[in-house]
Amino acid sequence: MTHTSVVRRRPFRPLLLDLYCCAGGAGTGYHRAGFEVHGVDIADRPNYPFTFTRADALTYLADLIASGGIRQYTMVHASPPCQDKCTLTVGTNRSRGWGGTHTDLVAPTRELLDATGLPYVIEQPNGRAKIRKDISLCGEMFRLGVLRHRNFELGGWTTARPKHPKHRGYVRGMRHGVKRDGPYIAAYGNGGGKGTVPEIQQAMGITWTDVREELTEAIPPAYSEWIGRAHLATMAGTAVAA
Ligand SMILES: C[S@@+](CC[C@H](N)C(=O)[O-])C[C@H]1O[C@@H](n2cnc3c(N)ncnc32)[C@H](O)[C@@H]1O
Repeated sequence: MTHTSVVRRRPFRPLLLDLYCCAGGAGTGYHRAGFEVHGVDIADRPNYPFTFTRADALTYLADLIASGGIRQYTMVHASPPCQDKCTLTVGTNRSRGWGGTHTDLVAPTRELLDATGLPYVIEQPNGRAKIRKDISLCGEMFRLGVLRHRNFELGGWTTARPKHPKHRGYVRGMRHGVKRDGPYIAAYGNGGGKGTVPEIQQAMGITWTDVREELTEAIPPAYSEWIGRAHLATMAGTAVAA
């Protein structure tokens, strides 16, 4: 009797390294765009939905470059934390001289990303560390219930800047002593009408964690899905609608 085997190959997914991954807001969007995702964070992130390594991102990336392991990746995303929240004095940050002398993680992260030779994305909120604002995304572009403006520096690749849409109204809650109602919730902090955990989950499109800190640190997956698709389209020589 002859046997026939059916080999079901999963479609090839390029591998993306997700540095400072937290619970995977960014990682999930890249996965939806078609990437396999590997996250790295200095804190344990049991809610991260993909392959996860607990490590200092700078040390991990430096070691990947030195060992050649970086060659398994197609692209790198990095969301370095802002200065007052980051774990600058933890572990190898200090022993490598990072944290002790660096006031932000963006510059040393960018330096290593440039050394990878790979296309990359650095994400930062408005008014934080200086990055080039090659792309700025807003929740209204995706009809989300948050505005959550975020800037993205693109290294080694480019794409057309999407237009910033008109907001539908105000962010709900107290701002500068004025109480407002509106279609967006504030997905940060506590009190003053800011979103509850279920409201933030719904507004950002993040269902797999109910840890408030993880939700308030995340970018909506819709943002990185858009970026991931734009990158893949650029590589394939096709354009995405902005
Ligand atoms: C702004 S959050 C990233 C959010 C993530 N991109 C998302 O969309 O869900 C920054 C993360 O950096 C992590 N972090 C801080 N210092 C780090 C370091 N030296 N190495 C790796 N991760 C670090 C924090 O634990 C935090 O989870």
